[in-house]
Amino acid sequence: MRYTGLIDKYRDTLPVSDNTRIISLGEGNTPLIRLENIPCEMGTQVELYIKYEGLNPTGSFKDRGMTMAVTKAVESGSKAIICASTGNTSAAAAAYAARAGIKAFVLIPEGKIALGKLAQAMIHGSTIIQIKGNFDDGMQLVKEVAEFAPVSIVNSINPFRLQGQKTAAFEIIEELGHAPDYHCLPVGNAGNITAHWMGYTEYHEKGKADSTPVMLGYQAEGAAPFIHGSRVHNPETIATAIRIGNPQSWDQALKLSKESNGWFDAFSDEEILATQKMLTEKEGIFCEPASAISVAGALRDIKSGKIPDGSSVVCTLTGHGLKDPDTAIAQCDTSAMINVNPTLEEVKKAILNNM
Ligand code: F0G
Repeated sequence: MRYTGLIDKYRDTLPVSDNTRIISLGEGNTPLIRLENIPCEMGTQVELYIKYEGLNPTGSFKDRGMTMAVTKAVESGSKAIICASTGNTSAAAAAYAARAGIKAFVLIPEGKIALGKLAQAMIHGSTIIQIKGNFDDGMQLVKEVAEFAPVSIVNSINPFRLQGQKTAAFEIIEELGHAPDYHCLPVGNAGNITAHWMGYTEYHEKGKADSTPVMLGYQAEGAAPFIHGSRVHNPETIATAIRIGNPQSWDQALKLSKESNGWFDAFSDEEILATQKMLTEKEGIFCEPASAISVAGALRDIKSGKIPDGSSVVCTLTGHGLKDPDTAIAQCDTSAMINVNPTLEEVKKAILNNM
């Protein structure tokens, strides 16, 4: 049967009716890939998987939430949606609004969103409002303006977003045949870690999984409110997707971390970039910097023994590497590129000299 998106697939667990017009771009159903080379080099027996959410239609996990949020906005008669965003939510909002035939307004921090995400918000025809501030300022403004203007908020404070995003946990359980022992995620607003926990506990309660995973949330050192135990006023990190100091799902994340016996940890920008590069070079998997932090976390905790040998671990790679070409290219040595004349002789030489 043709795959028509996660709402159709998980209809029984989502708040939609037979009459609901579904706004979908075929999101979900993303690959769960077992890492081979990195664990082998480390000499670990941990089963390490990545859930490649960058392969969603707009290149990030946000599509899972956006299909639900826009479907419900349209169902309620909304003609416009609004969000604050570090980039991926704005890309998804712009695309799903285009699909639905409604307007999207997106507030983004000026100069602090990755090029691919900006291109997406622009080409899908959303109205882009750049603010001289960060995501947290934008989020506050979105909440205020939505009280006056006829717009539906599609940030993760919209409960339908998390309903859609919980389906990632369903897919993982179905694919593995059980819940993993550990699930590692990058944490910004903490919406996604909250949604995953909802998904895992829902399937556990329904008897579709015998256990729930330990939930591990990783942040960038310059934007790590869960490590400091309080909001951060001027968050800063190269991983712009998670450049957030005032997580909207603060209480939920603390609660689920405790319930699952989980923990939070933070990584420097250098560690984040090194992990991004390692995944591209050793496994052939290209994710954006924020996403790599889930693998950085898993590897640190495997090395230290906090994640014991023999465990199964899933890391969510939240966004595709193509979202942020500038950061990728900046990490590479462009002088290593070889420029030649279009002759067999020169091309042959270039190959033989570099075998
Ligand atoms: N990874 C990526 C690639 C993201 O874009 C985000 C959040 C996260 C991780 C963190 O997820 O907020 O649910 O904890 N991006 C939002 C945006 C804030 O506007 O695109 P979270």
